[in-house]
Amino acid sequence: MSRHFLDIHELESGVLRQILDVAMEVKGEEKRTQASRLSQKTLAMIFDKPSTRTRVSFEVAIKMLGGDAVVLNAKEMQLGRGETIGDTARVLSRYVDAIMIRTDNHDKLLQLAEAADVPVINGLTDFSHPCQIMADIMTLEEHLGPIRGKTLAWTGDGNNVATSWIHAAQRFDFNLNIACPEALRPNPEVVAWAEERQARVSIMEDPKAAVAGAEAVMTDVWVSMGDENADERRSLLAPYQVNDELMTAATPETLFLHCLPAHREEEVTTSVIDGPQSVVFDQAENRLHAQKGILAWCLG
Ligand code: CP
Ligand code: NVA
Repeated sequence: MSRHFLDIHELESGVLRQILDVAMEVKGEEKRTQASRLSQKTLAMIFDKPSTRTRVSFEVAIKMLGGDAVVLNAKEMQLGRGETIGDTARVLSRYVDAIMIRTDNHDKLLQLAEAADVPVINGLTDFSHPCQIMADIMTLEEHLGPIRGKTLAWTGDGNNVATSWIHAAQRFDFNLNIACPEALRPNPEVVAWAEERQARVSIMEDPKAAVAGAEAVMTDVWVSMGDENADERRSLLAPYQVNDELMTAATPETLFLHCLPAHREEEVTTSVIDGPQSVVFDQAENRLHAQKGILAWCLG
């Protein structure tokens, strides 16, 4: 059975912790030592949607660990001409040691994992973005110490990144306050999953209430890749902008996180993203280190 990295709630807390421990360990390692970890291993990456961080951090990560990467644009593959995802998975499994996919439909990820004989990694779907949250937790722990018991606030769209945060709140045992408009609440099945497990996830409409006393404030774009009704979303989400006034409702030490890409002056003002509380570029850097932890676990 392959070690897939499909979603945070699909893995036990101990495994997630082990991945983060390896990520931290490799971050401190000399390049020469890293290069023997995944020698001769090849990662295929399929992109159905654009990417800067995920693409570059995975490619650099596998190469630094001694392996290699093949980057595939789904539209340029036979997938784009009707070959099934299952056949694609079976063929790629004969060539490479792991497959990462970024795609619109989460079912495509699941079908790929079902048919592949090698580990499959979720590089973002319309449902979730688990690799991002691993890097984010790594970043928070570097700045704040253990995440357990901390309070994090999410303000804005209850999107794919928010879903992975909800999964993480349960697995890593922290408080998560989510402020969003009624129409853009997180996936109800994910919320129900968290409630059944007594996860400390609170959903509210008032962003100031969400950030009060929080150790970190997080947001994401108002219009995700593939989203429609951009104008309607922008008007619904306008009260959820992370600006100086909202950060003042938190504490002077509260960190600001954003998975990037950011749309400055929409979900976050330049004053906040470039301000002293922002750790967004540490977060972006940690994508590289976290991917190494994920790859090492999948291929270990
Ligand atoms: N945060 C993130 O996944 O960025 P990319 O879309 O650039 O990969
Ligand atoms: N929610 C965003 C995240 C981008 C990394 C999107 O899906 O477009």
